[in-house]
Amino acid sequence: MNFLEKRIQQEGSVLDGNVLKVDQFLTHQVDAQLMQKIGEEFAAKFQAKNITKVITIEASGIAPAVFTGLSLGVPVIFARKQKSVTMEDELLCTEVYSYTKKVTSTVSISSKFLTPTDNVLVIDDFLANGQAALGLSELCQKAGATVTGIGIVIEKSFQSGRELLEKAGFDVYSLARIASLENQQVQFLTEK
Ligand code: G4P
Repeated sequence: MNFLEKRIQQEGSVLDGNVLKVDQFLTHQVDAQLMQKIGEEFAAKFQAKNITKVITIEASGIAPAVFTGLSLGVPVIFARKQKSVTMEDELLCTEVYSYTKKVTSTVSISSKFLTPTDNVLVIDDFLANGQAALGLSELCQKAGATVTGIGIVIEKSFQSGRELLEKAGFDVYSLARIASLENQQVQFLTEK
C-alpha cells in the first residue's frame, strides 16, 4: 500500500451509494503535508512533459492542484461552477453533469489564462464517471491548449471514468485506485 492508500484505509469511511468519505484530509479538512506529497508525486510523474499550467475544478480539486503547481513551478487555474462578479473577460464554458450529485453545472474559466501554447495537466480529487475531467479537457480544447495528462488523487476504478478518458486518448495517472467499496470495505487495485 502506498502512503495515500494507507491514509484512506486509516481514515476513510464508506457511505451508502459507493461513496468514500475522506473529509479528514482531502474534501473538507485538508492535510497540507499530505497534499504536498501528492503534489510531488504528480510533479515527478509529469516532470518531463513540459507542463505549463495545472487546471482543476472547485472545490476539492484545488488543494492537490495547488501543490502540484508548486512542485512543477507553474500557475494553477481552477474552473468555477458559478460565475464570479469579477469575471468580466471572455469565458470558456462547458456543461458538466455529475452522476453522483445529479446536477449539471456550467463550468468556466477566463480565456486569458489558457493559450494554444499551453501544455496542461488536469488534476482532480476524485475520478468516478470522468465528467469533470472531460469537461476540463473541453475547456482546454476550446482554448487550443493541449491536455498532456490527467492526475487523479482517488480513482474509483469500478466506475467508468478511466475507460472514458483513456478512450478519448488521455494519459490518466491515479495515486490510489479503488477496486471496490462493497460491504463498507475499501479494496484497492493491486496492479497499477
Ligand atoms: P465525475 O466527475 O468523475 O464524473 O464524478 P461524479 O460526477 O460522479 O462526481 C461528482 C462529484 O462527486 C465530484 O465533486 C467528485 O469529486 C465527487 N465524488 C464522486 N465520488 C465520490 C466519492 O466516492 N467520495 C467523495 N467524497 N466525493 C466523490 P464535485 O462536484 O466536483 O464537488 P466538490 O466536492 O469538489 O466541490
